[in-house]
Amino acid sequence: MTSETDAVSTAGLSNVVRIYHAVAGEVHALRGVDVDFPAGGVTAIAGPSGGGKSTLLSILALRDRASAGTVTLFGTDVTQARGPVLKSLRRNRIAWVPQRPAHGLFPHLSAIENLQQAALIRGRRAGGLEPAAALDLLGLSHRAEAQPGRLSGGEQQRLAVAAALTHAPALVVADEPTAELDDENAERVLSALATVAAEGTTCVVSSHDPRALRRLSRVLHLRHGVLSAERSGAELLRTREADAVIDSAGRLQLPPEALKLFPERRARVQIVEGQVVLRVPEGNR
Ligand SMILES: Nc1ncnc2c1ncn2[C@@H]1O[C@H](COP(=O)(O)OP(=O)(O)OP(=O)(O)O)[C@@H](O)[C@H]1O
Ligand SMILES: [Mg+2]
Repeated sequence: MTSETDAVSTAGLSNVVRIYHAVAGEVHALRGVDVDFPAGGVTAIAGPSGGGKSTLLSILALRDRASAGTVTLFGTDVTQARGPVLKSLRRNRIAWVPQRPAHGLFPHLSAIENLQQAALIRGRRAGGLEPAAALDLLGLSHRAEAQPGRLSGGEQQRLAVAAALTHAPALVVADEPTAELDDENAERVLSALATVAAEGTTCVVSSHDPRALRRLSRVLHLRHGVLSAERSGAELLRTREADAVIDSAGRLQLPPEALKLFPERRARVQIVEGQVVLRVPEGNR
């Protein structure tokens, strides 16, 4: 955990389960996720494709509903939020950048008009980033008059981030915001997120991108719908130590490098001087 845990929580999921009912059967995309996002800071959700990152983010951004569990935003249980309450949370307090960024943009408006519209919808929070400044921060000033359909995939992605950060609300949730970008533009996106986070906006992003993960102080690993390790991005690359998250059912998921040590998937659990030690059972070595 980071020192941010002392701060007020902006968002939290408690024992969140999401089951999709597909033609081929049920898909358990989230299997009891417990996580807290304190105010300010940027948290990344990492993990393999299909691990549940987009599912977790869309539930957090109130674009999708949990099948079970509790979603708390800004100190209120919003699991059952509907109608005007849901609409107001989505418009005024949460910025959502979907994995396919064009889905979040107004196609008939120019780049700058998209940001002006975002500011208008959000009610222009005092002190926030103005549309022109957001465009500049993301390196898009020269494309201000272009409509999203005339922008490249990476430009659309940066425009979607700029729209999210214009008068940034309390919570920004961005699904793979650097996926389409070269190093320079990925850096722009990460610095822009850090800028609004320093002013108190809580940012949650998903990423496979080592450039992003290396920079962030808090990285959670989501695999098969279960959160496993929590560590800083730099730690992730440097050390073999990681905190494993224990969910509310008491299950602990080992990070992949630890899991490799237990090919038989059996562990001997010992309590030694108040510490829990996991060993490969004698017969499995
Ligand atoms: N609408 C849906 N209907 C059925 N299954 C779905 C649906 N959306 C996602 N899934 C399944 O849920 C699981 C988690 O998907 P999700 O999109 O959350 O993963 P992800 O970690 O974001 O992957 P990626 O890195 O590829 O974006 C996958 O097995 C996926 O096939
Ligand atoms: Mg995804």
